[in-house]
Amino acid sequence: MGRPQVVLGVSGGIAAYKACELLRRLTESGHDVRVVPTDSALHFVGEATWAALSGNPVSTRVWDAVSEVPHVRIGQHADLVVVAPATADMLAKAAHGLADDLLTNTLLTARCPVVFAPAMHTEMWEHPATQENVATLRRRGAVVIEPAVGRLTGVDTGKGRLPEPGEIFEVCQRVLARGAAAAADLAGRHVVISAGGTREPLDPVRFLGNRSSGKQGYALARTAVARGARVTLVVANTGLADPAGADVVRVETAQQLHEAVFKAAADADAVVMAAAVADFRPARYAAGKIKKKDGEEPAPLELVRNPDILAELSAARPKPGQVVVGFAAETDDVLANGLAKLTRKGCDLLVVNEVGEHKTFGSEQNEAVVLAPDGTRTPVPYGPKEALADVVWDLVLQRW
Ligand code: CTP
Repeated sequence: MGRPQVVLGVSGGIAAYKACELLRRLTESGHDVRVVPTDSALHFVGEATWAALSGNPVSTRVWDAVSEVPHVRIGQHADLVVVAPATADMLAKAAHGLADDLLTNTLLTARCPVVFAPAMHTEMWEHPATQENVATLRRRGAVVIEPAVGRLTGVDTGKGRLPEPGEIFEVCQRVLARGAAAAADLAGRHVVISAGGTREPLDPVRFLGNRSSGKQGYALARTAVARGARVTLVVANTGLADPAGADVVRVETAQQLHEAVFKAAADADAVVMAAAVADFRPARYAAGKIKKKDGEEPAPLELVRNPDILAELSAARPKPGQVVVGFAAETDDVLANGLAKLTRKGCDLLVVNEVGEHKTFGSEQNEAVVLAPDGTRTPVPYGPKEALADVVWDLVLQRW
């Protein structure tokens, strides 16, 4: 098999300069990349840069090298088309099937997976026209990754930044690995994932917390993005960088997680509770730092219960047909405890894994068994958290 053929479409936004880094990563990892910039992209980064970095000729118009029929050939031969940055104009053209330059022609002839990494000002991203175009593209199976939040051109800050090139590169690799047949099988779906571990404050400097790193939840988010879903990731206290393409909501406590998950779940097709939620919180929060007093024993810690988000969601199902997935971290009697928990929580799937001080928490690998109420058990062998995440999405798909 030859090198994977990637078309890098670049439309006219200032973030075009970041596409140079994406191009480098693609070529350095063995992909044969053909850059197809729009005319306006060339105002930001010139043809010579694209040609030198890709090692391939660059054209923007259908009238260049006509004998090679580039407007058809480039798309037909691609294993992946990635458009980064994708401007509001480019998304509109793609959604409506316009074909007035080489890139838009390529998008119409490509039968391979297509990834759009939008970048624009927040107002343009939020405009109903853009949102409808994005929804159309997703429904058709394109992977449109959510823009990042941060500094935009000029003094503005908000949603609309191109995600980091390394993150886009990872999405591309995942999409390529799944191949055309299996790509974007979560297209048109909204999935909500909770990740990390909640912290329950005792005073301004102390909290009750847990060892969850959030890596499994992030793996679920990354794989869902690569499979074309719209992803909301509710994050409790992780040190991890936002994954490209997901809408990230940050919370601290179980109560905040409860609120954020329910809000996002209103129109979600699936909710996966990978976060480690504290079952109890301190009954009282001390507004000032709790001080020790000489000769005095510490006051006992009084705790109250937190809401059980997974059980409440399973009972409420804010959207009809919603699939709810829980995780169970167990140290003993793993399977028996898992089965009891599945019944108690009322969810559709429960991913059970064994945890211990050096097992699973913080690790890149995981081993689990996924339980369903009909008695089916899907064992997932020890491997990357992404592999377990893909099994979870396969099982969710079956339930839709
Ligand atoms: N969970 C939740 N809300 C809570 C506690 C847990 O939504 N207050 C969710 C977790 O996100 C996870 C699942 O329930 O998906 C199981 O979490 P786990 O801590 O294993 O279960 P607990 O209900 O805490 O059971 P126990 O502590 O008795 O093992």
